Amino acid sequence: MDEAALNPRPQLPTASAPARDLLGMVRAHYRELVPYVPIVPPEVLGKAGGVAASQIIKLDGNENPYGPSPKALEALRHCATYHIYPDPAQRELRAALADYVGVGTEHIIAGNGSDEIIDLVLRLFLEPGDVVLDCPPSFGMYPFNTQVCAGTLVTAPRRTDFSLDVEEALRQAQDSRAKVVFLASPNNPTGNLLRREELEALLTTGLVVVVDEAYQEFAEAPSYAALVSSFDNLVVLRTFSKWAGLAGLRVGYGVLAPALVRLLDQIKPPYNVNVAALVAAEASLADREHLMGKVGLLIAERERLYGKLREVPYLEPLPSRANFVLCRVQGQDAGQLKAALAERGIYVKHVDGPWLRNALRISVGKPEHTDALLAALNKM
Ligand SMILES: Cc1ncc(COP(=O)(O)O)c(C=O)c1O
Repeated sequence: MDEAALNPRPQLPTASAPARDLLGMVRAHYRELVPYVPIVPPEVLGKAGGVAASQIIKLDGNENPYGPSPKALEALRHCATYHIYPDPAQRELRAALADYVGVGTEHIIAGNGSDEIIDLVLRLFLEPGDVVLDCPPSFGMYPFNTQVCAGTLVTAPRRTDFSLDVEEALRQAQDSRAKVVFLASPNNPTGNLLRREELEALLTTGLVVVVDEAYQEFAEAPSYAALVSSFDNLVVLRTFSKWAGLAGLRVGYGVLAPALVRLLDQIKPPYNVNVAALVAAEASLADREHLMGKVGLLIAERERLYGKLREVPYLEPLPSRANFVLCRVQGQDAGQLKAALAERGIYVKHVDGPWLRNALRISVGKPEHTDALLAALNKM
């Protein structure tokens, strides 16, 4: 069964609704919205596939199989303020993040996942029809949120090796008078990094450049966050979802010019990061050594997974600096492979869009997950 079928969406009332034309009252551009296809929760996958949720090997969401830090779990158990609204100014988390990232607190704002910061940044800059530049294949929330904010998307597709076509990006940015460009580094789903000279070329045009570093802790390369003190048009996004194992609690953050932080603070929902997320994120930063130990295990496993996938005759894996490996599939149908793996309780992401056909994106799991995946792939 495909993801859309497992994630049913509420239907808008049809135009034939009796008393008034509710659908006609909905903002016009929402009637044609192409929805983002999110992941399906394990209990739903398990029910659909007849596998117990606990037996599922979930390699489709780039989550952290080691889970949160034990100190974060301890802090959540002992938190005594769940009945009080969270600090709208996120003071303690921002102070801890300033130390972690190496910039002042005035450069930081936290969100309900970095997804919320993507949305807030677009809401801040886009008038209806304003242009956003995307460099596909990349993260699906950029086109999705552009639609939600009534923006217009233009694309500068990546080269065949998925490196950025920076000349094309510069040309498109200029021709379309784009306001914002999104660049993920490492990029999802391709796993490669943005080069500093590419970033600087785009920054010097004055465009708002959003560098999404959701997978930075796995990259073994410097972050671009410190550049926010030199470029006020740079926005760097980070998250606790991947390295800190907190995807379910939804906490991410933006690093950007203080003037923009103040504006985002004014337009965000006041209590956007909940008490549990704040408590867990702060405890994670205090326990970063433990968590970075797990990141080290995942990096080592990524390299082992990549090596093993190279031995599978019908797969062409790409080197990755994130916690997943993208594989082009040769001579087989990637969708059927995904389905055959799902029948064995192993879930990977099928990637098949205009910019990348017939591929699988496989999240890095624990060694036993790699072993089970390889055993299954070698039978196909
Ligand atoms: C490139 C990229 N950015 C942002 C996110 C979203 O992260 P968060 O969980 O913080 O909303 C993801 C999640 O998969 C991602 O791949």
